[in-house]
Amino acid sequence: MTILFLDQSGELGGAELCLLDILCHSSATGDSLLANAQVALFSDGPFRERLARANIEHHLVGDLLPPRRDRSMLRRRLCETVSLIRSVQGILRLAKDCELLYANTPKAMVVGAIVQRLTGLPLVYHLHDILSEQHFGRWEYRFLIRLARACATRVIVNSQASQKAFVSAGGQPEQTTLIYNGFLPEQFSIDTATTADLKQKLGIRSDRFTIGCFSRFAPWKGQSLLLEALAILEDPSIELLLVGDALFGEGDYGLKLRQKTAALGLEGQVQFLGFREDVPQLLSTCDLIVHSPRAPEPFGRVMVEGMLAGKPVIAPQEGSAPELLRHGETGWLIPPRDSQLLAQAIERLQADSSLRLRLGQTAAVDAAKRFHLHHTNHQISELCQPLCHQSAPKLKRMTPPPPFAPP
Ligand code: UDP
Ligand code: GLC
Repeated sequence: MTILFLDQSGELGGAELCLLDILCHSSATGDSLLANAQVALFSDGPFRERLARANIEHHLVGDLLPPRRDRSMLRRRLCETVSLIRSVQGILRLAKDCELLYANTPKAMVVGAIVQRLTGLPLVYHLHDILSEQHFGRWEYRFLIRLARACATRVIVNSQASQKAFVSAGGQPEQTTLIYNGFLPEQFSIDTATTADLKQKLGIRSDRFTIGCFSRFAPWKGQSLLLEALAILEDPSIELLLVGDALFGEGDYGLKLRQKTAALGLEGQVQFLGFREDVPQLLSTCDLIVHSPRAPEPFGRVMVEGMLAGKPVIAPQEGSAPELLRHGETGWLIPPRDSQLLAQAIERLQADSSLRLRLGQTAAVDAAKRFHLHHTNHQISELCQPLCHQSAPKLKRMTPPPPFAPP
């Protein structure tokens, strides 16, 4: 039995990292359903390289990159239609050998829905997003919900927050199954020598209080809010590591962040580290993790990663954060979008090392129990297995008759 995973992106966003974890872990544990999976990608990039490194079968079909903005609307729509047709054709070829389609991103859901209609194969939509006007165009998210209603057999939601938004925008609650992202806790226990070495390489002095922010550079991820909070604190002993880069065409936001850092006089306190592959090691160098998105976070892997690293995490009291961490026990929740309150929370935790230690230790135990990759993979396997079986008779109907042989 084979599942065909569809993903629009070549970049390493959270949805792609989630899928990588699922597939890499299933090959390691020999989960036959997920280990036999294939991935179809609509654009090339580091995600494809990581799939190749992990020996996961993958195919590049079509290219759903947004067309150049300097072209006329008509030409852009034409390009989009042509690339959509190419992607559908590519997926149709691959779908001949599979029993289940699994769309991991919104554009993959659009292609998946067309292929589902043409083949009758079951389709799972892994919803990594909060489908609302804060994150999508007005018609875009309504269209996705309609597609899910019409074509998806199941919708995996990555948090209750994503589930709630899906249902309140018209999605069917009975279609959804909540499955959190999964992690391997052991990847986040870093030995002290490695941490010390990395601190030295980064030039982090022992008398500094280090805050880490691990998010791609996009305005809604709220790095700018954190810079404002830092400026309010006026404390040169605080050092901020901004880890991440613009992945989905938000190139100028990185530049704006650098300009803001300079304008606020924070140049000596902020390090821009770009996109890194050593997140667990970097987490280990921090005293505090801050996640301050300006819009509700659908899941936010960085919060769980901070917890697994045994660090106190400050996060907003909206979106998925209140599901992931409990205020004062396994993290620190604050009202969203308020740099003054963020500054106060940082000050509070900076002043109390025993509170930080207690939050971090409790968070690590809690996160290891609730967000283990074994559990995530088990849930996904359980959900997909019966759907693959169901699709068998349909596939038989699709199988062409044997070639005519004269008597
Ligand atoms: N990440 C990374 N390198 C970086 C910055 C982030 O590997 O330089 C990872 C981070 O560890 C996390 C993911 O990117 O696993 C971001 O996922 P999240 O769900 O937090 O946010 P998204 O960007 O997908 O909305
Ligand atoms: C998306 C969401 C993020 C989530 C990730 C994995 O990228 O924006 O919140 O953590 O998918 O589910």
